[in-house]
Amino acid sequence: MVKRLIKNIKTIYGLQTQPLPFKKGAAMSVVETMSDAYILTEGETIKAFGSMADAPERVDEVIDAGGGLVMPAWCDSHSHIVFAQGRESEYVSRLQGMSYADIARNGGGILNSATKLQAMPEDALYEAAKGRLDEVIGYGTGAIEIKSGYGLTTESELKMLRVIRRLKDSSPATIKASFLGAHAIPAIYRDNRNAYIDLVIHDMLPKVAGEGLADYCDVFCDAGFFTVEETDQILKAAAQYGLKAKIHANELAISGGVQVGIANRAVSVDHLEAIGQEEIDALLRSETIPTVLPSCSFFLHIHDAPARNMIDQGLGVAIATDYNPGSSPSGNVPLLMALACNNMRLLPHEAFNGVTINGAYAMELGESHGSIGVGKVANLIITKPIPSLDYFVYAFGSNHVDRVVLGGKVVG
Ligand code: NIG
Ligand code: FE
Repeated sequence: MVKRLIKNIKTIYGLQTQPLPFKKGAAMSVVETMSDAYILTEGETIKAFGSMADAPERVDEVIDAGGGLVMPAWCDSHSHIVFAQGRESEYVSRLQGMSYADIARNGGGILNSATKLQAMPEDALYEAAKGRLDEVIGYGTGAIEIKSGYGLTTESELKMLRVIRRLKDSSPATIKASFLGAHAIPAIYRDNRNAYIDLVIHDMLPKVAGEGLADYCDVFCDAGFFTVEETDQILKAAAQYGLKAKIHANELAISGGVQVGIANRAVSVDHLEAIGQEEIDALLRSETIPTVLPSCSFFLHIHDAPARNMIDQGLGVAIATDYNPGSSPSGNVPLLMALACNNMRLLPHEAFNGVTINGAYAMELGESHGSIGVGKVANLIITKPIPSLDYFVYAFGSNHVDRVVLGGKVVG
């Protein structure tokens, strides 16, 4: 196996010297570091790290970090990067005063994306999604969860999930797939929503599971989308097929989404812009990971999830891009970290843990991804020569990422 030495690292951030659990509360601001260091990779994994003075000499390849920082590649636990095209005209409508919910009620939004996706051949969809995946790898993303949910027919949901499988097979990034057939009620089922829920449960789910196309099941449990009862029904059916839940909850209203997610042992409940103390208390009593999406709040101009308050009360959060054409047309994690800090008042170290180790746990990848430890997957970011992680977040908008290493190889 090829041994590669990354030498002349100014500081490694996100080091792991013992098993690293999901970070909660005060632990969210703790980031282990080592200065003047090297990392040795062997094949796809991290073999060793240490002080530059002790760097091994007999290796197959040398990567000179040139005084840059090294961090774990980002773990983006919530995205929708398989879509046909952008929705910039809806953006302009929102700037002119229409709300996201108004646009959805008028057949825009998710239904607009579904019409376009249904018409797009699988190969073209794959190429478009691959372009976005390569783009986010360039920002430093090494693991990403990708959802279906713009198909909304059995055929098109399967098409989306097959695209995600092709991305899994072809990309150096680690990918998890979520089945989100319950993303919106298609217009033809508007007066017969139970028929659509039946379709999701009795037609889509068995086929998705039969082809092994999904790792998780998602539902958009929110005002105007799916009710708590419908969500419960779908998640229970998914569990029968071995699919755990990762759901959209409490974006638009105090919807009961957090509680129904927890009751179904969801791996994560995501969004949380509309939560109160009851939801925070329920999360504190559970193992479910709260995931916040600061670029969605920024782009829709809605409340941020109260991540500061949640962490102060002892919760840990994962932070994800939600990259999608309607509410967050960006998969740029460095920008996301700046938004989390500036708008949610997180510290750079907290934002870092949110997009690395905690994001990894929100995809059940905490043991293999999201930190720099011996035996972990060698997914690493080498920055330009900048002073620190604080600077990385502070000097927002500049591209500080110099190289991205996935599975031990430089990929971008
Ligand atoms: O996470 N909120 C639900 N789903 C996506 C947005 C979907 C869309 O507008 O296309 C989200 O924000
Ligand atoms: Fe989403």
